[in-house]
Amino acid sequence: MGAGPGTLARSVRIAAPECSSSLLYVLVEQSAFQRNMHAEHLPGWMGERNGFELEAFVASPQAGDGPQFVSSAQLPAMFSGVLLANELLDNLPFDIVRVRNSASAGQSPGQPDDQPSNRFVEQLNVSLGPDGELELVVGPAPAAVTEDVLALAVRAPELPVDTWFPWHGEARFWLTEVERRVSTGHILVFDYGAPTSELAQRPDMGWLRTFRDQQRGSHPLDDPGAQDITTDIGIDQFQLRSSAEVTSQAAFLRLHGIDVLVEQGRAVWNERAHIADLAAIKGRSAVREAEALLDPEGLGSFVALHWRIDG
Ligand SMILES: C[S@@+](CC[C@H](N)C(=O)[O-])C[C@H]1O[C@@H](n2cnc3c(N)ncnc32)[C@H](O)[C@@H]1O
Repeated sequence: MGAGPGTLARSVRIAAPECSSSLLYVLVEQSAFQRNMHAEHLPGWMGERNGFELEAFVASPQAGDGPQFVSSAQLPAMFSGVLLANELLDNLPFDIVRVRNSASAGQSPGQPDDQPSNRFVEQLNVSLGPDGELELVVGPAPAAVTEDVLALAVRAPELPVDTWFPWHGEARFWLTEVERRVSTGHILVFDYGAPTSELAQRPDMGWLRTFRDQQRGSHPLDDPGAQDITTDIGIDQFQLRSSAEVTSQAAFLRLHGIDVLVEQGRAVWNERAHIADLAAIKGRSAVREAEALLDPEGLGSFVALHWRIDG
């Protein structure tokens, strides 16, 4: 889900995993611009499917003539299989909130600070200032957000007060929906993130990132619509209906055999480097790509969240 231009689907087809011949693959992507790129270099792509046609596709008997790929703007209503979302959650709209104590906020002087009953939640809103420029304004969080944030503060007592952190209301709703739709199988989420209390301690909202043309952008209110506004995800906000196993991306890939693939790639490269044919180059790129994916200072430190859905 959040398939972008379809890079992963192409890589899966080329990697030809054991399940290839019975693989039914739906590239779920809301952007029509991105979906229009799915057909390129993807033999086995059968077009867009929505509604009944999409449901029929995911329920169709696996006749061994796969892999078959279709694109859709939506998730199927119900399916059994694997749902994979790479860098989707950081892309969904989020709120910016903080927990406050009545005493520290000057509302009830003399109250002990650490009483949960004295806590309330504020959020940052965007509004149009007198000079016509967008500005950030502090206001009370809606009741439903307050309730969920304070529940997290009880589960994570180390969550500091008075500092801003991202609140993933939309992504939490997304996960609830997805948990309902996957009847049996796995939900896999890869993203950059940390426990919410760690994010809240980063100075200057260090978890907020903007991007423009693949480069880091500027202040999130600059030039609205011209840059991507994203956030590191607060991973403990996603332990909802069922708990996810949480590992680093590097640990997840090692658990699922990346070292074997690297050794195979290295062996092909060593054997064929002098010929420098396609197989040799593929072998070398497997080694290089794995180094990047496992780098503890880079992609390797991404988080992998894995839910097993037993039905
Ligand atoms: C940061 S990109 C990641 C793309 C790809 N997964 C990758 O790792 O390169 C996030 C993608 O999610 C898509 N997206 C965001 N919200 C979505 C939603 N509700 N349903 C489907 N796709 C969504 C965006 O259009 C964008 O293509």
